[in-house]
Amino acid sequence: MPLVNTRDMFKKAYEGGYAIGAFNVNNMEIIQGITEAAKAENAPLILQVSKGARKYAQHTYLMKMIEAALSETDLPIAVHLDHGPDFETAKSCIDGGFTSVMIDGSHLPFDENIEQTRRVVDYAHSRSRYVTVEAELGRLAGVEDDIKVSSEDSSYTHPDEVEEFVKRTGCDSLAIAIGTSHGAYKFTGKAKLRFDILEEVGRRLPGYPIVLHGASSVVPEYVKMINKYGGNMPGAQGVPEEMLRKAASMAVCKINIDSDLRLAFTAEVRKHFAEHPDHFDPRQYLTDARDGIRAMVRHKIVNVLGCANKA
Ligand code: G3H
Ligand code: 13P
Ligand code: ZN
Repeated sequence: MPLVNTRDMFKKAYEGGYAIGAFNVNNMEIIQGITEAAKAENAPLILQVSKGARKYAQHTYLMKMIEAALSETDLPIAVHLDHGPDFETAKSCIDGGFTSVMIDGSHLPFDENIEQTRRVVDYAHSRSRYVTVEAELGRLAGVEDDIKVSSEDSSYTHPDEVEEFVKRTGCDSLAIAIGTSHGAYKFTGKAKLRFDILEEVGRRLPGYPIVLHGASSVVPEYVKMINKYGGNMPGAQGVPEEMLRKAASMAVCKINIDSDLRLAFTAEVRKHFAEHPDHFDPRQYLTDARDGIRAMVRHKIVNVLGCANKA
């Protein structure tokens, strides 16, 4: 099956009360681990690529590896730009074969966010193949690429703005801020998400797909493993899985996961070297890293997203 955009998968997810996992990819082992997991669980999939990933691995390498992964499965898979910073980056990804892009104007004033998003939508929707566009209203805290958003600069989405935003931009999905944040340190005390905002957004945009960023659970077993094998991540904490399941049963159709992949990869590499200090063949420790990614993604698909057997 060729790469798909996110339109049909979101429609089915919304109607079915589940979410699609959007997993960040940066290298071959991550791409393979994720797609093998989706294949094992017969799940639809979004592979997402950040500006930083394009800088690290290069657009063409990532695209060719994703094409290789695609040839091994018959799943609906979308390739999506994560946190597109500007029109030029979105255009370059659309021209380079991505089937979906995010334009992140969440730091801009409302009208400027609309203007930038509209420009990307006009370009993406006028191609011979329809490229879906995700936009963002409200601002998450945490680290993305080289930008760090402090909790003081973060802000919840205002539900009274979403109808106008979606109508004026024509975007296909909307990321909202309800208290999640990027990275491995999301909460200092008890986790709290503003489900009242999600509910109100869902009421104002019936049938419309909502996206949740910063949705890693920072799986405690992997944090323990990292700390056991020489790492130092005290206080790492993510979104409890039951909250993600609840969001998936509501209007959230796309759940973004990167930090949990990083944790799984790093924990397995640390464990490998602790157990085999004499190893120096990258294939040995990267096999464990890839296995860790596969296990993590299978866990997400089955226990968090609810999208197993929905391909
Ligand atoms: O939201 C950000 C994602 O985790 C991607 O991270 O920009 O460091 O590749 P990155
Ligand atoms: P996490 O840092 O919680 O994995 O969030 C990833 C994300 O939102 C990518 O856009
Ligand atoms: Zn994000």
